[in-house]
Amino acid sequence: MTTESVCRVCEGVVHEFFDFGRQPLSDAFVVPGADDRDEFFFRLATGMCASCTMVQLMEEVPRGRMFHEEYPYHSSGSAFMRTHFEGLAKRLLTTELTGQDPFVVELGCNDGIMLKVLAEAGVRHLGVEPSGGVADVAAARGIRVRKAFFEESTAREIRNDDGAADVIYAANTLCHIPYMGSILTGVKELLAPTGVFLFEDPYLGDILERTSFDQIYDEHFFFFTARSVQAMAAGYGLELVDVERLGVHGGEVRYALAPAGARTPSAAVAELLAEEREKRIAEPATLQAFGAKVNKIRTDLVELLDGLRSAGRTVAGYGATAKSATVTNLCGIGPDLVPFVSDSTPAKQGRLTPGTHIPVRAPGAFSDPYPDYALLFAWNHAEEIMAKEQAFRAAGGKWILYVPDVHIV
Ligand code: SAH
Ligand code: TYD
Ligand code: ZN
Repeated sequence: MTTESVCRVCEGVVHEFFDFGRQPLSDAFVVPGADDRDEFFFRLATGMCASCTMVQLMEEVPRGRMFHEEYPYHSSGSAFMRTHFEGLAKRLLTTELTGQDPFVVELGCNDGIMLKVLAEAGVRHLGVEPSGGVADVAAARGIRVRKAFFEESTAREIRNDDGAADVIYAANTLCHIPYMGSILTGVKELLAPTGVFLFEDPYLGDILERTSFDQIYDEHFFFFTARSVQAMAAGYGLELVDVERLGVHGGEVRYALAPAGARTPSAAVAELLAEEREKRIAEPATLQAFGAKVNKIRTDLVELLDGLRSAGRTVAGYGATAKSATVTNLCGIGPDLVPFVSDSTPAKQGRLTPGTHIPVRAPGAFSDPYPDYALLFAWNHAEEIMAKEQAFRAAGGKWILYVPDVHIV
């Protein structure tokens, strides 16, 4: 039996293709000793809309449960990502922001990782960020922040207070927002006729190709493709005018939307659409095959960890990512298989991972002493982390990866 839901973009029928089962909130790190009954669980499952092909979650978690004062994800925790966003900001300065007194709005500015560069360059800007803790960090860095969820009413208020935006930007945020109609109506109202809405999010094509199933968790509601974004934009008087593939977070695409007819779509749009057709990304058979690969990774990973435990080898997790909640809860990996996870985020340290309750410890624990194996939950930061942890390798340590399949390096 397949389950159905209503598409949050076009109201078409969404057909389920994979059920991850009961899952906790991926960023809700548990205080040791807290009452288990307070932990929130929901059914994590993905489906595809038969009309617009948008891949999305079958169930939605209320936004206030995920994004609040204590939201623990701080974007600036990765040096690589700081460089990535600095590059984008500098490019905007010489392209979209060369007019008179330009104005930039960022949705989900988090701790100000991107806007910091534009603020320092004296550009008129506003970050819209509902998670109070990270918004305070951005404000302390000299960024103008509004603590709010962006939606149609917020867009109208910003337009009244500050005028039209030349650039609206959102990184790893649009895919977090199920109420897409309100967002795109707001974007259309806030955007100048010559403006552009840029957003970058994990790309479904990369998720399928790499079987990076851990990109699927409560906060990631949508999994975009050029095709689904093109259809989505058209419903709101906007047009997909450019796409750019990005290497960050395991493969993303940066989409550019402009008011319909205002800009000529680049050749890259047609190229990516053709590639998606050729790879049959939005076809049920492709999605079923993905599900089979996820099941194999689950079996292989548990078998490997069980074997290592039996052989008396020590294992530690590296990076208490939101993504890892899907892996540990799908596979049933708890402290018996992975005694602790090392993470550089102070707000996560001393807490337990959601659902399977693995203690999170500061990076000092990782080298005291080094484990035999490190399960790299933050595989999207592999380059940065492996460069930083060369002493672990030198001491004979090995990395366990589970994307695109379970392997040891
Ligand atoms: N842009 C940063 C942060 C991504 S995390 C980066 O790429 O690293 C996603 C952020 O979106 C969180 O900080 C969350 O609080 C914010 N968010 C969630 N819903 C939002 C909404 N409706 N409007 C604006 N921001 C939102
Ligand atoms: P990330 O993969 O960026 O995102 P998500 O939580 O959305 O899956 O999270 C990276 C996590 O890994 C974050 O908690 C910080 C941590 N981390 C380290 O502990 N050490 C590091 O060197 C890096 C780059 C990240
Ligand atoms: Zn749809």
